[in-house]
Amino acid sequence: ALRGSVVPKAQKSSQKSQYHVNPLASYKVAILGAAGGIGQPLALLVKMSPLVSALHLYDIANVKGVAADISHCNTPAQVLDFTGASELPNSLKGVDVVVIPAGVPRKPGMTRDDLFNINASIVKNLVEAVADNCPDAFIHIISNPVNSTVPIAAEILKKKGVYDPKKLFGVTTLDVVRANTFVAQKKNLKLIDVDVPVVGGHAGITILPLLSKTNPSVSFTDEEVQELTVRIQNAGTEVGEERAGAGSATLSMAYAAARFVESSLRALDGDADVYECSYVQSDLTELPFFASRVKLGRKGVEAFISSDLQGLTTFEQEALEALKPELKASIEKGIASAQKQP
Ligand code: NAD
Ligand code: LMR
Repeated sequence: ALRGSVVPKAQKSSQKSQYHVNPLASYKVAILGAAGGIGQPLALLVKMSPLVSALHLYDIANVKGVAADISHCNTPAQVLDFTGASELPNSLKGVDVVVIPAGVPRKPGMTRDDLFNINASIVKNLVEAVADNCPDAFIHIISNPVNSTVPIAAEILKKKGVYDPKKLFGVTTLDVVRANTFVAQKKNLKLIDVDVPVVGGHAGITILPLLSKTNPSVSFTDEEVQELTVRIQNAGTEVGEERAGAGSATLSMAYAAARFVESSLRALDGDADVYECSYVQSDLTELPFFASRVKLGRKGVEAFISSDLQGLTTFEQEALEALKPELKASIEKGIASAQKQP
């Protein structure tokens, strides 16, 4: 069975009576941007993981109090705080998974690409430090525009001579979480059973839910496909408008990012049955980066689930072709920006 949810894993873990005192709980996770809207609830959720022995919280400000607060939860992970560039290297030493939600969120009326200038340089600086201090870590990029920040990160890692395409991930889990929720609501299904692969990228029409590949199999009318696809593509904008200028999705994002961290840790721990959608270097299409379902293993991406892209409906096939020019441009913009910086 394909898994991905944190909930079944938590249930599974609690069935193992020795689990919490088992020295298997030995992974180190760093969150860069840990005092932010995503960073704080994400830190709390990662602190709940029995697989985490150390949780390093880094930000340019306000992280001490967050770390003190979370450290009082009686779960195994030791919480350490790191503030400002001088403490960044130590926040990364020995870390297995680095999650990057640092950066500016959009406000109503903005596209994710409008964040490019400011977030590109934040991601560049942070990934340089990752390259210098924990080059073997899995890197999870949340900062928008993900379609460009992941190619930027790849270029920085290449310049540093430590790029491993199997370990660099754009976090698109929230698109899957939303697709699963909206499909279950629409079709009156038990949420825990619904799994919708979402491919392409993470902005507007580049977000392509493959509703025909919903597991278990569900049939949709053309109107339902149209409506669900648009809702999933616009869900980030929907939250931003409801928040009315006070940021974008943070809580559902933290939930989704925690799920992706947990899946990565399970893969590192030798679980041979871990599948997630992620935006990664890929040869599934002619685009150098593409989100799809991948199998995760100890060394990162172990396999691409290419069957998801076979036997698409006409709607999906056309949507796939339609997203490619925008995704290609975002990738090229990221690469060009990283290459021109010293
Ligand atoms: P936020 O403003 O609440 O928090 C951002 C945090 O980053 C702040 O604490 C800030 O101090 C910190 N920061 C800024 N520059 C930094 C640096 N150089 N080093 C370390 N930390 C730094 O924003 P948020 O709501 O948490 O969103 C963060 C990012 O995540 C945004 O770019 C947003 O668009 C993106 N996002 C992505 C997804 C996704 O699905 N991938 C979903 C939601 C939000
Ligand atoms: C999301 O999908 O919620 C994020 O990418 C934030 C945004 O700007 O919409």
